Amino acid sequence: MAIPKILVLSGSIRTGSHNSRLAALAAKALTRAAADVTLVSLDDYPLPLYHGDLETSAGPPENAAKLKRLFGAHHGIFITSPEYNASITPLLKNTIDWITRVREPKEPPLAAFRDRAFAIAAASNGTYGGMRSLMALRQVLELGCGALVLPDQIAVSAAATVFDEMDDLREERNADRLRAVLAALVEAARQFT
Ligand SMILES: Cc1cc2nc3c(=O)[nH]c(=O)nc-3n(C[C@H](O)[C@H](O)[C@H](O)COP(=O)(O)O)c2cc1C
Repeated sequence: MAIPKILVLSGSIRTGSHNSRLAALAAKALTRAAADVTLVSLDDYPLPLYHGDLETSAGPPENAAKLKRLFGAHHGIFITSPEYNASITPLLKNTIDWITRVREPKEPPLAAFRDRAFAIAAASNGTYGGMRSLMALRQVLELGCGALVLPDQIAVSAAATVFDEMDDLREERNADRLRAVLAALVEAARQFT
């Protein structure tokens, strides 16, 4: 059976980020599920705030091109997304915005988002576990970028207390949900290998 390549990233670069913990846990689980996993931190791909004048004068930054190539090199992408004021983080939105501006000659628009599967997850201390950031992220990816975003998703509430000392999810309910989301992603990503 073909081995899908899965990219994992968190929409937070905060030290101790719950979403980065969730991303790291997902990366571990995906590796166990025989996927070829790349876990990246957006801290390693700093980007200026999108500005049309900057794009006109200098084009998209090299880090946007690198991330776009990374997206293109994977069959599945797993994104964990913190909730800021009922939406996604400016970091994640700015990163996606820049990636959408990178286009190779003769390439169709938004190529990095097409022909691959996305799965999304959130972690928050709030009751809804960042569910509203998932709604916003789904809109950006599906409507804005034409991406296939799987219906399976996970929103982890009470995020400060749900991880044990091994960085696993304590509650079976959360662990089962994450397993289901990742299994769906591996299966969908395999279709694009
Ligand atoms: C500007 C700002 C707005 C926030 N708005 C929300 C919100 O609407 N809903 C929510 O559940 N948490 C909200 N939070 C709390 C974050 O979800 C929380 O800080 C979370 O831990 C951030 O993710 P991280 O741990 O991965 O960095 C907000 C935090 C910040 C800084």
